[in-house]
Amino acid sequence: MPVYHQLGELPSKRHKVFRKTSGELYSEELVGNMGFVGPSSLLYHVRRPTAIRALRTIKELHWNCAPGEPLRHRHFRTANLHTEGDPALDRIPILFNHDVSLSVICPTVDTSCFYRNAQGDEIVLVTEGSGRLESPFGRIAFNGGDYLVIPRGVLHRFSFTPEKRVLLIIESAGYVRTPKRYRNEYGQLLESSPYSERDIRCPQDLETHDEKGDFRLIVKKANCLTEMTLAYHPFDVIGWDGHYFPWAISIHDFEPRVGRFHLPPPTHQTFEGDGFVVCSFCPRPYDFDPEAVPAPYTHSNVMSDEVLYYANSEFMSRKGIEYGSVTLHPDGLAHGPQPGRTEASIGQKQTNELAVMVDTFRGLNVSREALAIEDPEYYLSWLDND
Ligand SMILES: [Fe+2]
Repeated sequence: MPVYHQLGELPSKRHKVFRKTSGELYSEELVGNMGFVGPSSLLYHVRRPTAIRALRTIKELHWNCAPGEPLRHRHFRTANLHTEGDPALDRIPILFNHDVSLSVICPTVDTSCFYRNAQGDEIVLVTEGSGRLESPFGRIAFNGGDYLVIPRGVLHRFSFTPEKRVLLIIESAGYVRTPKRYRNEYGQLLESSPYSERDIRCPQDLETHDEKGDFRLIVKKANCLTEMTLAYHPFDVIGWDGHYFPWAISIHDFEPRVGRFHLPPPTHQTFEGDGFVVCSFCPRPYDFDPEAVPAPYTHSNVMSDEVLYYANSEFMSRKGIEYGSVTLHPDGLAHGPQPGRTEASIGQKQTNELAVMVDTFRGLNVSREALAIEDPEYYLSWLDND
């Protein structure tokens, strides 16, 4: 995160005596990645965050690959996936490799405990729903269309309003960041970036809970869930500052680029991870030359698997998809507009599509659970009907 943020009370210097009115010291904690050289924040707890009463393994997560099947274009209808329950604990990956996984879940409950992902950063696209992401850093209010970026190690929980919720969760083994080419050498987002620091929403409304008791925390590490009973409420931070914290940006604040002729997908890049990128295809005017072909040309994404999640039912080059569809166009095959879509795009003025693309640089596995929601004839959809 190139943004520095601070909330609450802080001592004048790092690692300096900082006492409560009782005379006790606050407990200073550094949270950061890459040892002590990556982005980090310093938090000041009322109690020691290391105080654990009990722990036990509650679940091993087995990500099951579907049995070997012929290489083909795939289409999964996630509206048919039964993924109710807890947004942190009950998610089922649809596609995954060692760098990244994609899950869709329709949470029926708030996070039933505190949760910390210690094996990956998370990008949560709130396709539907609203509420608050709560953490020791403060609260972030969210609505449909928000990306929530939760760096690994950040303890948090979700609190939803009663409306329906649909979340796309992208878990990344590497650090999720703004694309390097959007930043200047000093870390600031460039004028030419499709979003700016002003669009990034940081935690607010820091509340300090000085409570002793039994507080349930689930930590995910090495695909295993460990339940810990904390002796103190984990939201006991009196102040913090730094560059490492959860943040949000709305997909509707991503400013799409349009050209006289078709611009390639990297134009829509939103996030950068290790081994993958995330792009946002947002409502926008089409290419404006009268002779422009707005639909993309057929392409072979050599050394890349391409995933699209359709956050509504419209996409200019594709037919047969629906809201919640996930398509996988793997390396080894060409893909492009289906019959009729290129011709139909000529002369169109704008698109209302809303979709998220995840391009991975290593091949993706299809989970066994995803087979139950697969459209088995999708790979035939490029055939002419004559
Ligand atoms: Fe593509």
